[in-house]
Amino acid sequence: MTLDDRTLLTIAVIGGTGKEGTGLAMRWALQGYRVIIGSRDAERAAAHAKELNAQLGADLLAGQANADAAAQANIVVLSVPYSAHKATLESIRDQLDGKILIDITVPMQPPDVRTVYIPEGRSAAQEAQALVGDNVRVVSAFQNVSATKLKDPRGIIDCDVLVTGDDEEAKSEVMKLVEAAGMRPIDAGPLANAVAAEALTPVILYINRKYGIKGAGIRITGV
Ligand SMILES: NC(=O)c1ccc[n+]([C@@H]2O[C@H](COP(=O)([O-])OP(=O)(O)OC[C@H]3O[C@@H](n4cnc5c(N)ncnc54)[C@H](OP(=O)(O)O)[C@@H]3O)[C@@H](O)[C@H]2O)c1
Repeated sequence: MTLDDRTLLTIAVIGGTGKEGTGLAMRWALQGYRVIIGSRDAERAAAHAKELNAQLGADLLAGQANADAAAQANIVVLSVPYSAHKATLESIRDQLDGKILIDITVPMQPPDVRTVYIPEGRSAAQEAQALVGDNVRVVSAFQNVSATKLKDPRGIIDCDVLVTGDDEEAKSEVMKLVEAAGMRPIDAGPLANAVAAEALTPVILYINRKYGIKGAGIRITGV
C-alpha cells in the first residue's frame, strides 16, 4: 500500500492523550493527515482532541477509544508507557490486521530511567511484532525525540529519527511521516535494530541531566 495522498491516510495515535503522542498528532494534523487521538477513555480522547483543535485554531483532530481509533486508521501509532505496552496491544490487536504499526516505545524500568533496559524480547518493537503477528507491519521510530521538542507543533526540531522495520514499503511510509513531523528520517535497518534506538533514550536522558539540558537529540553525520 502506498498512499501518496495524505488526505486518504488516517493515523490513530494510541495513547495520544499523553506527552509524546500529543506532539506527533498535532504535527501530522497540521500537515493534512486525518488524525485520531486514542485513549482508554473515549471521553478523555474527545476532550483532548478538542483542546488540541483549540490550540491549533482549526477542527483537525478527533478523539476516540483506542480500539475504535485503531479500527479507522491505516497507520496506528503506539504511544503508551512500556508498562502498558503488552496490555494495550492486546486491546487493539484485532483492529491492526493488515496495517502498519509504529511502535515508539522505550522499554524502561522506572525509577531508573537513565540506565539502558533491554526487555525479554530484545526490544519493545520485536515484542510488539511477536504479539500482533506477521500480518501487521511493525516499524519502530521516534524513541529519541523528546516530547518537549514536539510540544510546539510549528517549532523546528534539530534531530534525526532512526527508523527500523522488516518491511521496506512500510518503513518508507513511516519515513514520510517522520519528515511530515519535521524531522529527518534515517533508515536504520531491520526491526532487530530497534533495540539500539530504544536503548539510546536512557542514554539521552542521562545526558540531559548531566549537562542540564532538556530534550537532547541525535544526529547521524555523513549522510
Ligand atoms: N515523553 C517523551 O519525551 C518520549 C520520547 C520518546 C519516546 N517516548 C515513548 O513514547 C511512549 C509514550 O510516552 P509519553 O511520555 O507520551 O507517555 P505518557 O504521557 O505517560 O502516557 C501516554 C498515554 O498512555 C496511556 N497510559 C498511561 N498509562 C497507562 C496504563 N497503565 N495502561 C494503559 N494506558 C496507559 C495514557 O492514555 P489514556 O489514559 O488516555 O489511555 C497516557 O496519556 C512511551 O513508550 C515512551 O517511552 C516518550
